[in-house]
Amino acid sequence: MIQKYLQKKIYSSIQQRLKNRKLDIESSNVTLKEVLTSEPATLYLHFPFCDIACNYCRFSKNINQKLIDEYCQCLLKELDLIKKNSTDKTLKLTSIYLGGGTPSLIPIEYLKQIIAKIKSVFACKTNIQITLECHPQSLHEDSLDKFIEIGINRLSIGVQSFKTEILNEMGRPIDAAYIKKILTSINEKEFYNFNIDLIYGFDKQNVDSFLEDIQTAINFKAGHITLYPLIKSCQSQEKDNSKQLKMYNAAQNKLKQHGYNQYSVEDFARDNLFKMDYQVDAWGVPSKDLILIGTSAFGALNGYFYNKERSTQKYIEQINNNEWPIGFIKKVNPKQEHLRRLIFGMHYIEVDRLIYKKKYGVDIVKEWRWALLFMKLSGIIKITDEKILLKESQWFKGSKLWGQILFELL
Ligand SMILES: C[S@@+](CC[C@H](N)C(=O)[O-])C[C@H]1O[C@@H](n2cnc3c(N)ncnc32)[C@H](O)[C@@H]1O
Ligand code: SF4
Repeated sequence: MIQKYLQKKIYSSIQQRLKNRKLDIESSNVTLKEVLTSEPATLYLHFPFCDIACNYCRFSKNINQKLIDEYCQCLLKELDLIKKNSTDKTLKLTSIYLGGGTPSLIPIEYLKQIIAKIKSVFACKTNIQITLECHPQSLHEDSLDKFIEIGINRLSIGVQSFKTEILNEMGRPIDAAYIKKILTSINEKEFYNFNIDLIYGFDKQNVDSFLEDIQTAINFKAGHITLYPLIKSCQSQEKDNSKQLKMYNAAQNKLKQHGYNQYSVEDFARDNLFKMDYQVDAWGVPSKDLILIGTSAFGALNGYFYNKERSTQKYIEQINNNEWPIGFIKKVNPKQEHLRRLIFGMHYIEVDRLIYKKKYGVDIVKEWRWALLFMKLSGIIKITDEKILLKESQWFKGSKLWGQILFELL
């Protein structure tokens, strides 16, 4: 009883903080040259354009596509700017993620140039994972061949649902038959490594219809499946929780029976090979620095926390003036940095204390003793000599919280 009360207090206080959060965090005057290091990093490139705005989505996007051409040229110029500022260092990458918005709308010629440019600016790990987020409507059989040709080796497909009626409720005017046709082509082309995003929590969905969607994703041999609870505003969230929780638990069981390993609060991989390198690199423990290209995203780089300019128009202007287009950048002290890693690390269900100590020289449990003890007494985490584990009963809440953190920061 007390534990439930404390859990509710902790979760609602985090939600309240997110709601009241001010974006105008004090910035420092650090330059791009100062933050670039030779430490291996991961790269996220944001493409903020979409064909339509789905009615549930709060990601940073733009349906006025007039600026696509200019934006793509600016992405290339931003990569040049990084090259220019790194003359004395070899920049290394371990994974690349093209997200959005809808990066599968990037004209193929630009996509080819962008990938070639990234590979010329950075020393990339052998067989580096390059993920492209795709709206199924923007995929065609020949685009799949071109993706393979230019080096994209992982697709993340925003299926959301295999039912036309539910897609209509989402404000996604696409026929489920088309999604299945594209996935059949992906299977025929032996594009092995792909993810399917599914959302649960719309009025027309229930446990049975969601399990049918999961079965369809399994039938298409998705190596990776991501399950997102529908995130609405903080206030309207509470009443949907019990229905969503049943859907989540039923899906977890089904995926487990079919050999999928759950490695985060929302990610399931058929094999370690199919894990998403980018997310684990950026937010797991130990985490890599994050090079951000384009608008909107946020991350950590060389002891700083930063986000990119949110307006597409302003981004273009800044790049054309040879300026590094950031929104804020803030030096974080090591203790804050450890807390950030801990919070994001919990998204991956457990944080290995020993690996943490080896990499960062600190016992995270000793450093954040009181906060962790409070979470332990509230029944949210378990602490062993080796690990901090998010209790299974908290995975669903964690997945909602993670979604909210993402949406509030983007
Ligand atoms: C940038 S979008 C994916 C690519 C592409 N734009 C698409 O929609 O197919 C990333 C994913 O976030 C998820 N998402 C977006 N808005 C959401 C919301 N309000 N609640 C839960 N998941 C959401 C969707 O599953 C979506 O596929
Ligand atoms: S879900 Fe995807 S396509 Fe829909 S608005 Fe969001 S980013 Fe755009």
